[in-house]
Amino acid sequence: MPFYSDDIVEEVRSRTDIVDVISQYVKLHKRGSNYVGLCPFHNEKTGSFTVSAGKQMYYCFGCGAGGNVITFLMNYENATFPEVLQELAGRAGVELPVVEPSKEAKQQADKRSRLLEVQKEAAKYYYALLRSPRGRQAYDYFHKRELSDETMRKFGLGYSDKYSDDLYRYLKSKGYEDGLLKESGLVTFDETRGGHDKFWNRAMFPIMDMRGKVIGFGGRVMGEGEPKYLNSPETPIFDKSRNLYALHLARMTKKPQMLLCEGYMDVIALHQAGFDNAVASLGTAFTTGHASLLKRYTKEVYLTFDSDGAGIKAALRAIPILKEVGLTAKVIHMEPYKDPDEFIKALGAEEFQKRIDAAENSFFFELRILEQNYDMRDPESKTAFHNELARRLLGFQEELERENYITAAAEHYHISYEQLRKLVNTLGARGYGKGTEPQPQQLRSGMNHKNKPENANLQAQKLLLTWLSDRPELYESVRNEIQPEDFSEPLYRKVAQLLYEQYENGTPNPAQIISYFSDDEKQSRVAGLFHARLPELTSPQEQEKALRDVIGRIRRESLEMKKAQVDVTSLEEMQRFIDAAKANKR
Ligand code: GTP
Ligand code: MN
Repeated sequence: MPFYSDDIVEEVRSRTDIVDVISQYVKLHKRGSNYVGLCPFHNEKTGSFTVSAGKQMYYCFGCGAGGNVITFLMNYENATFPEVLQELAGRAGVELPVVEPSKEAKQQADKRSRLLEVQKEAAKYYYALLRSPRGRQAYDYFHKRELSDETMRKFGLGYSDKYSDDLYRYLKSKGYEDGLLKESGLVTFDETRGGHDKFWNRAMFPIMDMRGKVIGFGGRVMGEGEPKYLNSPETPIFDKSRNLYALHLARMTKKPQMLLCEGYMDVIALHQAGFDNAVASLGTAFTTGHASLLKRYTKEVYLTFDSDGAGIKAALRAIPILKEVGLTAKVIHMEPYKDPDEFIKALGAEEFQKRIDAAENSFFFELRILEQNYDMRDPESKTAFHNELARRLLGFQEELERENYITAAAEHYHISYEQLRKLVNTLGARGYGKGTEPQPQQLRSGMNHKNKPENANLQAQKLLLTWLSDRPELYESVRNEIQPEDFSEPLYRKVAQLLYEQYENGTPNPAQIISYFSDDEKQSRVAGLFHARLPELTSPQEQEKALRDVIGRIRRESLEMKKAQVDVTSLEEMQRFIDAAKANKR
């Protein structure tokens, strides 16, 4: 629902200097042609946050956040696109046209804000009720669970009354119509009873989005009863796969990791004990969407799941998802307690900090669970386990990391280092291990991270895009050899296509390419494509050779890709392919 035309957006952006704007928020130092500083989107001690005046972009080599000046302000100030545009237009002295948003866009925006209003009204209602005589039982319940008044306030806790339609009547009296209330998920309608509340006689947990706006609720029975928790259904403003409980608080933490819990009560108990980095998913399974969300704020996620079978299963499911986006995962052990809430009640914050410090590496956690399927007293079973171990070790693509894990695993399982290493190499030579780990193309993050280095081809493509954005004089010769189609991933291809178009029409303008993508994560990835780590090249000969290598690799891989796709039943297609292959050999 674009309110402003691409042209006006570009005019505002191009009249704004990104270095000026970001300097207001981040202390920047000049380094070469760039500026660097401490990244405002994650915790760091040395500056990885780079602002390029030439490209009018920022990119953090630490956390992968990136974009243009508009993206920066949207993320930094948690503002919407029109808000940022208006701010920048004011600054740059550009008069924004008074655009009537399309009827549809207006209706949609209007509905979203009305839905937010309803949730806010409901939250206020529940909140007040908890503090009234009618809410006594819920108040006592929270107290019994050792929540302080301060904590109850901070999390906006509330109570839904025993009458099954008092919220409905209240919201009606405020003028909200049935259709909207139905869509809010707070009221259900049936023919005989009419409208009635989804939540009644429950201890209420408002769920907030990243800006702290209420988007839904969880409600718990006080005491025994089924279901224990009731959660709001998804609505246009409540997307469970894009929100995490308490993330609006945890994103401000100074701690180096995030604690991922299962339950709301766990999160609250942790925050109360000083662990302001705790979040939980919203009664649904943990997804890649959640992982990329966390990736914006941290590099490490510690799983703080229940210590029972279900918790272990959930941890085993979450670990690969976290790794896929490039996060390091660790597992916190709470034995003999069931969950962090109980642990803290029993042993307190200090002991919990010890468990954080002793968190288990997720690789060894997975193996420890796996091991239970094998009988280590039986040589055959034990061998099978060692093979599986070796296969998993192959999943580490970076040599040094793999070496370190082989050493650690050998020690851990009392196998000789040489033998384990040999086993890993043999399996590797036989092609095992391939396909067990996510291939780079499947990585959503597209960022260079420790566990899964990008393959050389993607790295080459990124280098080429970076060079093309830094050194316009290269374009003429590059375009004869590499076309946008030669880029292997859709995002890379699209970016190349846009950049080539800009060259054909005059001047390259990478920051404008960012505006083409509306999704935050994509914008960061695109900024990443223009910020490949450049090799140190001094002489022009070296530079020329590096460029040749990169072009050569992309061409070769592109041909391979076409070969794999070529329809062998089509002779014509085949001939074209053979011609292309010949041309490439010349
Ligand atoms: P407490 O008993 O209050 O301490 O709960 P908990 O925080 O220990 O949560 P538990 O481990 O029982 O459940 C974890 C999360 O799963 C909860 O926060 C809810 O989001 C969700 N959940 C639990 N029980 C139910 C249920 O009966 N229905 C639904 N839809 N979700 C549930
Ligand atoms: Mn619990």
